[in-house]
Amino acid sequence: MIYETHTHFDDKAFDADREDAIRSAMEAGVTRFVNVGASMESSRTSVELAHKYPEFLAAVGVHPEDCRDLTEEDMDCLKEYTKDKDVVAIGEIGLDYYWNEPERDIQKKWFARQIELALDVSLPVIIHSREAAKDTYDIAKAECADRVGGIIHCFSYSTETARLFLDMGFYIGVGGVVTFKNGRRLKEVVEYTPLDRIMTETDSPYMAPVPNRGKRNSSEYLPYIIRQIADIKGISAEEVEEATYNNAVRLFGK
Ligand code: NI
Repeated sequence: MIYETHTHFDDKAFDADREDAIRSAMEAGVTRFVNVGASMESSRTSVELAHKYPEFLAAVGVHPEDCRDLTEEDMDCLKEYTKDKDVVAIGEIGLDYYWNEPERDIQKKWFARQIELALDVSLPVIIHSREAAKDTYDIAKAECADRVGGIIHCFSYSTETARLFLDMGFYIGVGGVVTFKNGRRLKEVVEYTPLDRIMTETDSPYMAPVPNRGKRNSSEYLPYIIRQIADIKGISAEEVEEATYNNAVRLFGK
């Protein structure tokens, strides 16, 4: 039983074969999926997927790259989505300073606002953070995100930064990068992080693990990520599957 805590099966990359791709992931052992929203539109389509497949849950929220035109009406709309029993988190929200677009102040404003929403509806957050470790930590702390907890998805920072987020009660999201030859820093983070604080994710269609690096990613490749975590920890893949599955159930409640 594998828990996929971060996928985007509503993405247009799956338009031609969505049904088959989801079935293949299930055949690979994935029994639970959180389809994560990244815009107002994909928040809606994530909820639709959760209604279509009993194995699917949804997160609703707006990614930093897409937050420029957000309004309070959008926040009301997201809040309305959270009344659905299949909606288990607010995400993905956060900061992305890699592109510097939109401006940092806009990103920070809507990151903070969506944490506020998460506290309001008592749901955990799924955080996207790229080249923005300090601001992510400071805002999460100032907004009391530790009260709802969540995942630092696609974790890309150092072990020292991992410790800060772990101390705040967050889980570390581990995806395809852990299989990369140049993924040494994430391997160190995995070695450092207790197994009961690791979440497995693909972020598909992005970030495919080795041996499929560069191709379209899909949740069916989660076993490669689990195998790598198991090797780093010196335990069996089954132990990793079971522990990370339990972690996700603890956080999302199902
Ligand atoms: Ni994502």
